[in-house]
Amino acid sequence: MRFIFVLSDGSLSFLEIEQYLRGRGIQFTVTTSTDRFAILEIPSVKTKEFLNLGGIFKVGEISTEGDRLTEVVANAEIGWLPSKLRWSVSYYSIPGIKDEFIRETEGILAEKLKAGGAVKARRIQQDISEQGLIEVSSKRLDNDMFDVLLAKGGNKYYQGRTITNIPSDSFRERDLDRPFQESTISMPPRLARILVNLLSLPSGKKVLDPFCGTGTILMEALTLGMNVSGVDSNLERINGTKENLYWLANMKRLSSESFGRRIKKGDARKLVGINEESIDGIATEPILIPRLTKYPDQRSGHEMIEKSRKIYLDSLVAMQRVLRQKGTISIVTPYLRIAGQQTITFNFRNLVGEAGLRVSDEFVRFPLFPRHAKEAKVLRAFWLLKKD
Ligand SMILES: C[S@@+](CC[C@H](N)C(=O)[O-])C[C@H]1O[C@@H](n2cnc3c(N)ncnc32)[C@H](O)[C@@H]1O
Repeated sequence: MRFIFVLSDGSLSFLEIEQYLRGRGIQFTVTTSTDRFAILEIPSVKTKEFLNLGGIFKVGEISTEGDRLTEVVANAEIGWLPSKLRWSVSYYSIPGIKDEFIRETEGILAEKLKAGGAVKARRIQQDISEQGLIEVSSKRLDNDMFDVLLAKGGNKYYQGRTITNIPSDSFRERDLDRPFQESTISMPPRLARILVNLLSLPSGKKVLDPFCGTGTILMEALTLGMNVSGVDSNLERINGTKENLYWLANMKRLSSESFGRRIKKGDARKLVGINEESIDGIATEPILIPRLTKYPDQRSGHEMIEKSRKIYLDSLVAMQRVLRQKGTISIVTPYLRIAGQQTITFNFRNLVGEAGLRVSDEFVRFPLFPRHAKEAKVLRAFWLLKKD
């Protein structure tokens, strides 16, 4: 079967999909990928697996492809439909498409839906999010909803039907309903999910976040069935992380007996009490830049970056020690925007080498960046590191 994944964060989302499938031993080949979507041939997969991804908006099953849009739509396999139906169309990477052309395409679709049995089909407009991407909420994607996906990749057009929306509500719930929150330091759960999926680990493996803060990354790892450990130098945050994990474990009826032992106040530069080579994967976002209300000037920007660099180096050495051989680290580093909009950072590749690790550049060249708010002062750079 061929699937189209609508990506929220470009190449980062695409890599997440690949790493997730690899980690679960699911075979796939890539047909095409752009910044907005990727099309993959996956011979055997349970589509509920896709609900575990953090970096996609929705997934559709491709039914036709071809050189002309109208032909692709005309050949669409619609199947039997209920008589009452709401339908919509989402276009991806089809630039400059004329209204007239859209009308023609949608006219063909409307006829096909009728012929399929949907005599009372009603066209609805989807909500268009601020990025111009269209998100159908999972509640609306039921038997009475038919969301057609039309995409152009290379010289080919693809047509499919949305089969899965990512459960935004559950990400939102973990973000906003958890008992301990500190919005100034925590990362969005979707990005935390990407970070965990980049590790390419099956459930049951040991995942550590040595700068766990409010526990966002560990919550996503726990949701995926990982065995989680966390360290933070701030006691209040350690207690908060435990509280959040107990809350989640209780909601999902998961075992929480090890949290007392595995979530500990400590220094990420030492990782005292964690055995050598005992951890399967590390997912973390140290950042270590204080909260900024305005763009810093050159000098203070460089000072902040230098302070951060030192802690990154020492903690990478400690991570290298506790990580098992062939283990993976997914980590976020800061790119600081200073006055004048220039970004500054440290030479992370050098630090990685000094710590006896390597940047995993087999599949893509790191770092990869998620979408950022225009006014963001610290940009997140995602890296994947390996211990050989
Ligand atoms: C950016 S926050 C992590 C936020 C976390 N990803 C979340 O979503 O809540 C960085 C964390 O590192 C902790 N920290 C700073 N220096 C540390 C050190 N040397 N060892 C361990 N934790 C440290 C801070 O207390 C802070 O909670």
